[in-house]
Amino acid sequence: MTPTVPVTEFFRPQLCGDGLPFVTVSYAQSLDGCLASHDHRALALSGQASMTLTHAIRAGHDAILVGVQTVLSDDPMLTVRLVAGAHPQPVVLDSRLRFPISARLLTHPRGVWVATVTPPPPTLAPALTVLHTNSTPNGQVDLPHLLQQLGERGIRSVMVEGGATVIASFLQARLVNRVIVTLTPRYFGGVGIAHTLRTAMPIALPHPHCFALGEDFILWSDLT
Ligand SMILES: NC(=O)c1ccc[n+]([C@@H]2O[C@H](COP(=O)([O-])OP(=O)(O)OC[C@H]3O[C@@H](n4cnc5c(N)ncnc54)[C@H](OP(=O)(O)O)[C@@H]3O)[C@@H](O)[C@H]2O)c1
Repeated sequence: MTPTVPVTEFFRPQLCGDGLPFVTVSYAQSLDGCLASHDHRALALSGQASMTLTHAIRAGHDAILVGVQTVLSDDPMLTVRLVAGAHPQPVVLDSRLRFPISARLLTHPRGVWVATVTPPPPTLAPALTVLHTNSTPNGQVDLPHLLQQLGERGIRSVMVEGGATVIASFLQARLVNRVIVTLTPRYFGGVGIAHTLRTAMPIALPHPHCFALGEDFILWSDLT
């Protein structure tokens, strides 16, 4: 199915009636299922057209969420640059407050929200806002508690962009409303969701749609 309306309309998040944000997981992977290199560096996966789509999806969401390892590896800005639109609020999962003070995200116009289970130190970079959450049994950020806090702060939609560990956690916890995958028809070698996902049952994408975009394919489905 090829979108016949602007992509921002096409992938516009729905309103969840329960006050929790709508969760879109959106990422790019190679034919061999890799999101990153073996040493956790970024791979140049998306073509120009699918990268532009990613920025349009960013602009359609209230918040954009990544794991701290993505910040440490890529030093991303997480802004909207390739289309016109507002920057979503960056949120970083960072249980042990490893967020580097040199991170470019600290210059983001909206500041950064860091979700953690660690009590914050007395002094913090002014651009950082700490969201203290319950801890999972393995000492990480409790995702349902975080989504509740985001909802209370007026966030109605979250785009979860990566990396593989964070995406696997959202899928495992069945907290995903929509999945959008950019599939690039190349083999890279590296690591992907298969390396981190632990699930007894397959997680099926109901009624999946697929369309070609530039040199890539976009596969998407609403799970709820
Ligand atoms: N292809 C793509 O679309 C794409 C998109 C984004 C990133 N990437 C790539 O992904 C790589 C990084 O991915 P990654 O899998 O190594 O790390 P990640 O998913 O970016 O971050 C994982 C870290 O998040 C923290 N975390 C806190 N609470 C968590 C929870 N409930 N569930 C899961 N994680 C939680 C954990 O560190 P603590 O325990 O210290 O809190 C965990 O190790 C980078 O190389 C980047 O280039 C690819």
